[in-house]
Amino acid sequence: MDDGLTEEVKEHRKTQYAIHPLLLNRWSPRSMTGESMSDAELMPLFEAARWAPSSNNAQLWRFVYARRQSKFWEAFLDLLVEGNKVWAQHAAALVVITSGMFFEQGDQPADTHAFDAGAAWENFALEGARRGFVVHGMQGFDYDKARRTLGVPERYAVLAMAAVGKRASGESLPAHLLKREFPSGRRPLNEIVLEGRFG
Ligand SMILES: Cc1cc2nc3c(=O)[nH]c(=O)nc-3n(C[C@H](O)[C@H](O)[C@H](O)COP(=O)(O)O)c2cc1C
Repeated sequence: MDDGLTEEVKEHRKTQYAIHPLLLNRWSPRSMTGESMSDAELMPLFEAARWAPSSNNAQLWRFVYARRQSKFWEAFLDLLVEGNKVWAQHAAALVVITSGMFFEQGDQPADTHAFDAGAAWENFALEGARRGFVVHGMQGFDYDKARRTLGVPERYAVLAMAAVGKRASGESLPAHLLKREFPSGRRPLNEIVLEGRFG
């Protein structure tokens, strides 16, 4: 039966209830070809992010990016810890995801800014995965250096980075990463969904 799942996802991911294949087909490969991506390939991912919901429709997320052929590339790559650099150096683009911690009018804290930016990031990742690209989130980078290098204002939080690129077969990866190049599983539903009270 054609359930819309990729072969690798079919092999590694089992759901407790049927959900849309888009959600399961997104995962975080590391192996990329080192090719660049055109605007026509890259910008639809930001377009998808743009349509995420946010509190007050404030859209406080800001994506700062560098493409591999640009003058900004080396500075972005230099933000990453070695363990990420080793594979993310083959990406087509590196993205730093930031979001405003206060609403733009006045100084009222935007309590859900990170929640909203997370929704935008997932849209970005889903659209990228749907188009067959690698979209891989990263916490392994120097947050302070990112703020300084990119000129991120104090009102904005630096949340995460992402590597985006064209997928390659895993052989180019070091052995310890090749071993992990498959879709991961998840905790069972009863561990994360709690009726009435926490615990
Ligand atoms: C915010 C965030 C930070 C992450 N940081 C890293 C990282 O620094 N290095 C890395 O290799 N993977 C990183 N990951 C990938 C996660 O390990 C991965 O998403 C998780 O294991 C679930 O697997 P899946 O995305 O393939 O479904 C990160 C993912 C997210 C969402």
